[in-house]
Amino acid sequence: MDFTLNDEQRQLQQLARDFARKEIIPIAAEYDRREELPWQVVEKAFEVGLLNPTIPEHAGGLGLGMFDECLIGEELAYGCMGIYTVLMASELGIAPILIGGTEEQQARFLGPLTEKAGLAAFALSEPGNGSDAAGMATMARDDGDAWILNGAKMWISNGGLAEFNVVFATTDKNGGHKATVALVVPKDAEGFSHNKIKHKMGQRASLTSELVFEDVRVLKENQLGRLGDGFKIAMKTLDKTRIPVAAGSVGIARRAMEESIKYAKEREAFGKPITEFQAIQFKLAEMAMGIETGRLMYQKAAWLVDQGMPHGFESAIAKAYCSEMAFSAANEGIQVHGGYGYVGEYPVEKLLRDVKLNMIYEGTNEIQRVVIARNLLK
Ligand code: CAA
Repeated sequence: MDFTLNDEQRQLQQLARDFARKEIIPIAAEYDRREELPWQVVEKAFEVGLLNPTIPEHAGGLGLGMFDECLIGEELAYGCMGIYTVLMASELGIAPILIGGTEEQQARFLGPLTEKAGLAAFALSEPGNGSDAAGMATMARDDGDAWILNGAKMWISNGGLAEFNVVFATTDKNGGHKATVALVVPKDAEGFSHNKIKHKMGQRASLTSELVFEDVRVLKENQLGRLGDGFKIAMKTLDKTRIPVAAGSVGIARRAMEESIKYAKEREAFGKPITEFQAIQFKLAEMAMGIETGRLMYQKAAWLVDQGMPHGFESAIAKAYCSEMAFSAANEGIQVHGGYGYVGEYPVEKLLRDVKLNMIYEGTNEIQRVVIARNLLK
């Protein structure tokens, strides 16, 4: 067992760390306040090679694996989880094409993302349906060489802005997962519209949208896999992409710990810095314990993906554990800051607002426990 990063990984980690420090941290609070996605950060990420790095070489990309993607993710989320979600959700839109698409489809859809800054999106959840993903209501009607898409998708990161959305739909409402299809819908498709979801609690620098499909004609050449594969492509995607959520959560926890250390060293009470009180030391120690164990878990899950080994159980554990650990770290970070932690002057209140979403998206932590338990009992 070897826990050391190789030279390339250390460089990648440093690149992402510098990027977070120079390009993300200085603007994060402002874009959070404005509820606006900082497009210039997406463009800069593209320029330095941090945008969509998993696109395979045959489609013109870098072809990075999950472990490397997660190393980047921890660093970017340290800067701002909302901005990291923009980049991470693009990988979520890319993953089903890597899982279910042919080489021709990968080159057609992903190639353009290697030529200029652009995002992908993944559209599974619906206004009336989230955890029961197979119960989707968005309909795909057969029309010869195309599907006619009708319905709505909800809570879609990058939705509307993305060059394409991978949309999951059913061909028969009573057909369960065996009736589902995965379709790549370009952003300029006729009959496709989108509405920005405003007033989110956190991650306000990421764009979240409702997507509406009214008689959208999607050519069958844009279908990933066969009829009946849609749900399984979505599940295999999420088994992978929950790991970068875990990595991002560790980044948030690390930020909470480092901000707490910085503040506690400066703040005095009863005539000495509050770092001298065990009440504070224990909080910092708990944060460090969570960060170290969480990182081991996301790295193990990512390593399994890169080895081509089963990873659904580990990715669910990593996602649930790391997001809850980071929620607790952000919460305790506020406690260390006292009243100052409760206002926007210090970054810790944003960490708590941001990390709450990590416990909900890409499958609630309750769903992660369903996945974990089913693995134990099967
Ligand atoms: N990999 C491959 N196949 C899988 C699978 C997996 N991980 N999980 C299930 N399957 C297969 C099963 O083997 C079964 O196939 P057969 O019938 O051929 O045997 C089929 O799929 C149905 O499986 P289940 O009966 O187990 O499915 P279910 O309906 O009970 O659902 C679930 C399981 C785990 C609850 C699933 O619905 C789920 O993960 N729900 C959460 C959805 C989710 O994570 N949504 C997040 C959306 S993304 C997001 O958040 C947006 C964003 O912008 C960030």
